[in-house]
Amino acid sequence: MEMEGWKISMDEIRNILPAWVEASRLHAGEGRVASYIPELAKAPQQALGIAVMGPDGSLLAEGDSSLSFTMQSISKVFTLMLALMDNGEEGVFAKVGMEPTGDDFNSMLKLELVEPGKPFNPLINAGAIAVTSLISGDTPAAKMARILAFFNHAAGGADLAVNADVYRSESATAHRNRSLAYFLKDNEVLGEEIDVEDVLSVYFQHCAVEITCVQLARMALVLAFNGTDPISGRQLIPRRYVQIAKSFMLMCGMYNASGEFAVKVGIPAKSGVSGGILALVPGRYGIGIIGPSLGSKGNSTSGVHLLETMSSSLNWSIF
Ligand code: DON
Repeated sequence: MEMEGWKISMDEIRNILPAWVEASRLHAGEGRVASYIPELAKAPQQALGIAVMGPDGSLLAEGDSSLSFTMQSISKVFTLMLALMDNGEEGVFAKVGMEPTGDDFNSMLKLELVEPGKPFNPLINAGAIAVTSLISGDTPAAKMARILAFFNHAAGGADLAVNADVYRSESATAHRNRSLAYFLKDNEVLGEEIDVEDVLSVYFQHCAVEITCVQLARMALVLAFNGTDPISGRQLIPRRYVQIAKSFMLMCGMYNASGEFAVKVGIPAKSGVSGGILALVPGRYGIGIIGPSLGSKGNSTSGVHLLETMSSSLNWSIF
């Protein structure tokens, strides 16, 4: 029954998607391409691409869906699940909280105000840096190799790699992230044995993993099916850890616009400053979007508009 349901709506979407993409592309003008990581400023502002993947691997790809971009904050969803696999829930939540902040993704405000030093959640930069420090591996290179292997596994055997230019560009300009990380060190969220620059290097690298909408949709599909890849039938990620990751995506995946996104779209999603969005319709689709022009809250303006259109037209809200 369910299989039939998603097939019918896949055909429905196929016919109308090109028009939806072009209508949403007009919203690119409302935002700006991120430039605080200088290399990201090179992205085409008007681009908009989407891939939607169903459980048999059937794919709809429209607009600039072949454009590659870096995962940025989208990577944090997967490093969180890997850290949970390495440390368990107790280990991870000893270092990072479970609440949305209402502050910018790179804010340090609440780090000092409440529970000194412990980041509010794993998707803000401070929380993601703490999570990165928990990933197993003897050296930064070993940790990064495990992260890439995990991402590739979740992407159905992809061959993802770090974009070295974006990595270097972020590392050279990341004064804010450096200050957050040293603050975490001062508060012993990053322990004695942890070298701050090593953690930052792994964090910048996983943010700089290059990907396409189709590969993002493939990764999202595994989340849509609770950690089991519906294409191979293999369980790749424990269901509980996917549940945790999706809870955070809903609460804070779109940063300070997460509440509005939950009301208007109503599905778990995670954005990144490159303009990527990973989203999923539980039990039905994995979705990858790229639209580099960002609104004031840091999310792709055209990408969010496209998801709003699709969710309201196709009744996707989980609520
Ligand atoms: O740490 C940073 O600033 C970037 N590597 C990632 C931030 C990001 O994608 C926030 N997204 N909206």
